[in-house]
Amino acid sequence: MADLRSNFIGIKSPNPFWLASAPPTDKEVNVRRAFQAGWGGVVWKTLGSEGPPVVNVNGPRYGVVYGADRRVLGINNIELITDRPLEVNLREIKSVKRDYPDRALIISLMVPCDEDSWKAILKQVEDTGADGVELNFGCPHGMAERGMGSAVGQVPEYIEMVTRWVKQHSRMPCIVKLTPNITDVRKPAEAAMRGGADAVSLINTVNSITSVDLDLFSPQPTIDGKGSHGGYCGPAVKPIALNMVAEIARNPATYGLPISGIGGITTWRDAAEFMALGSGTVQVCTAAMTYGFKIVQEMISGLREYLDDKDIAMTDLIGRAVPNVTDWQYLNLNYTTKAVIDQDACIKCGRCYAACEDTSHQAIAMGPGRVFSVKEEECVACNLCLDVCPVENCITMRELAVGEIDARTGRPVRPYANWTTHPNNPMAQAAE
Ligand SMILES: Cc1cc2nc3c(=O)[nH]c(=O)nc-3n(C[C@H](O)[C@H](O)[C@H](O)COP(=O)(O)O)c2cc1C
Repeated sequence: MADLRSNFIGIKSPNPFWLASAPPTDKEVNVRRAFQAGWGGVVWKTLGSEGPPVVNVNGPRYGVVYGADRRVLGINNIELITDRPLEVNLREIKSVKRDYPDRALIISLMVPCDEDSWKAILKQVEDTGADGVELNFGCPHGMAERGMGSAVGQVPEYIEMVTRWVKQHSRMPCIVKLTPNITDVRKPAEAAMRGGADAVSLINTVNSITSVDLDLFSPQPTIDGKGSHGGYCGPAVKPIALNMVAEIARNPATYGLPISGIGGITTWRDAAEFMALGSGTVQVCTAAMTYGFKIVQEMISGLREYLDDKDIAMTDLIGRAVPNVTDWQYLNLNYTTKAVIDQDACIKCGRCYAACEDTSHQAIAMGPGRVFSVKEEECVACNLCLDVCPVENCITMRELAVGEIDARTGRPVRPYANWTTHPNNPMAQAAE
């Protein structure tokens, strides 16, 4: 059976599945139950320094986007960092770590941007025996307005400065958690590395308004007639997170910087995708909030089975897809496919026809009896028919071999050529 034990920047855990810093990790009772359910690690909900208390709203904290079956696709939250007293959290962390020495226990931190505040809290966290710290430079609401969270994460110089303080004043491994609310995520990751971070984690939540109440004319969640932007997470943000993880994993400037992947992970498959793009561990929040702690058991058995079927070690999965992430100009422009409709599977709904006829390349014909067929001479292989078809595998794409005649161009399919070498590229011609 595949070995899922993980050693991430020296932090050991029995599996790579960690709970992200959020309500599921806000207190001892939750974290103990999470560990009992099988989570390999936990990032404790963000602690702040002593000072003005953190005050949350007393109305709804969440706005939700549902799929057609009322499945939760995304959650927007306007919650702040922990509002529980620091000393209570520290006492609980110590007690949990004592009883679960084999699990990863990372403490998320967010304190004002001055060296003394960081120095003070690091000492207190170190005394708990926790395995490491995660610097929360990502929360986009509430704390950002006070110069913390994403207000730091959006300025690479601040990231570098604070990370350096943390490494100077603590022996603990340091993970820098990045905000996605930025143009180029490589820059904050580079700054974290310059500051001495042992790893980065991403993504924190995406700035968002999930919906507007059309009677109150206020964003939801609505607090006494008004709303504010919040942080979006859950399956809807997974594609954004995967891209950002890949951008960092393949950036030569941060090559080898360990990554803890976060964002919409709900199944073992999601986790495996993050790992293939370079994540050494993964963190989960929304899936646990939606389905409970035991969801980790499916993740563990699914990942194990996948690795066994593939006959690869988990360490071989990590980063395995990174060399295949490239820039558009390096894609093979001579790779040619054509849509094929399985007439036995077709339910004659006509979605492929409507989509192709109205919005794409008029490459699907509708014959008598609503028989749909592909006009290969028009098909550009855009995939839209397959994407909108409600029957899985009813439409597939057939790859043309090199030398086979493409009915659309009337020419044989040529061997590999990307845009940098393509004959239609004037720059390529000039270079010849
Ligand atoms: C209600 C809520 C509170 C959160 N609080 C924190 C927090 O205190 N610190 C932090 O770093 N991230 C916080 N997050 C962000 C999560 O840790 C995680 O980065 C994000 O939810 C994406 O993961 P997911 O798609 O699995 O939910 C919070 C998320 C939610 C939904």
